[in-house]
Amino acid sequence: MMKVALFSSQNYEKPFFSEALKDHPQIELSYFSESLNEQTTALCQGFDAVCAFVNDTLNKTVLTELAESGIQTLALRCAGFNNVDIKTAQALGIKVVRVPAYSPEAVAEHCIALMLTLSRKTHKAYNRVREDNFDLNGLLGFNLHNKTIGVIGAGKIGQALIAILNGFGANILVYDPNIGEGSYTLSSLDMLLEQSDIISLNCPLSEATHHMINDNAFNKMKPGVMLINTSRGALIDTKACIRALKNSTLGYLGLDVYEQESELFFKNRSDEIIQDDVFSRLVSFPNVLITGHQGFFTQEALEQIANVTLFNLQEALDRRSELTNQVR
Ligand code: NAI
Repeated sequence: MMKVALFSSQNYEKPFFSEALKDHPQIELSYFSESLNEQTTALCQGFDAVCAFVNDTLNKTVLTELAESGIQTLALRCAGFNNVDIKTAQALGIKVVRVPAYSPEAVAEHCIALMLTLSRKTHKAYNRVREDNFDLNGLLGFNLHNKTIGVIGAGKIGQALIAILNGFGANILVYDPNIGEGSYTLSSLDMLLEQSDIISLNCPLSEATHHMINDNAFNKMKPGVMLINTSRGALIDTKACIRALKNSTLGYLGLDVYEQESELFFKNRSDEIIQDDVFSRLVSFPNVLITGHQGFFTQEALEQIANVTLFNLQEALDRRSELTNQVR
């Protein structure tokens, strides 16, 4: 048997895990709505493995306590692992596994949803029509056809996005140090920043990419550019972003992720006073659209997350020497 403590649990995940568990009778899941951090590691006592999500904290302190509690496997039910101190996990003998691709199309389609909502202002039109206001003033949009769209990071999600954008007839520039030719034009980062009408961030967060979109990057962009970030909040220096919105360099901003999202996202906070003034300022701009990390949130992706997470845990339970989805 393998006893697994699943943190940051949400009700919407449970039916997918219940279904997937039918194929894994030796795995027992306990759901904790708490996120995993220094304050909650004590909950891991008596478990063999931990299952965590994007905003759980897996730093040296937490990992050390997990190892002392006998945890041998950390199963991430996400692709990104920037929240895990991988070196420490390796040194402690904790195997880290992840779901490398649950549905790149889900996130790519969400990028498109943000782009089209911002360009065609459907969120504003929806409210107007409900109030019998059929005035078109202020709703003027622009075509994606023939626009130059810069994709930073063309891995699984970036490639899915490029496939859709080709259908729109956009000119696609790609900056990714690790990919070859394709149905796009390979570009330097500077050229992409200078020439794009829309920029989409689809690379992982790392030391190299932290705040890659800063004052310097905004200074190179076309006035009125649209920026979309569905990857990780800290790719953007949010304060620089607010400056770019105030001086109109940034014409449209679509975010599914935010630097300090772990303090905010995935909970209903409508009865709270939000203490994050930077976030509140962002929300106040008329040309900013923020969703709360829902790019992955489709039925297809949740099914895949549950299936692959349990497959990963089963491989660890079976003591496979090579785990298919291990992070190294
Ligand atoms: P991937 O690993 O398939 O592709 C990432 C690409 O970024 C690779 O081709 C890599 O060469 C490139 N890259 C690395 N460093 C770069 C740099 N400095 N500049 C430009 N490109 C660089 O990852 P995938 O599956 O496409 O996911 C991308 C990111 O999307 C994840 O790291 C994660 O942070 C985020 N994500 C967000 C979700 C959401 O719900 N909003 C859901 C899933 C992933």
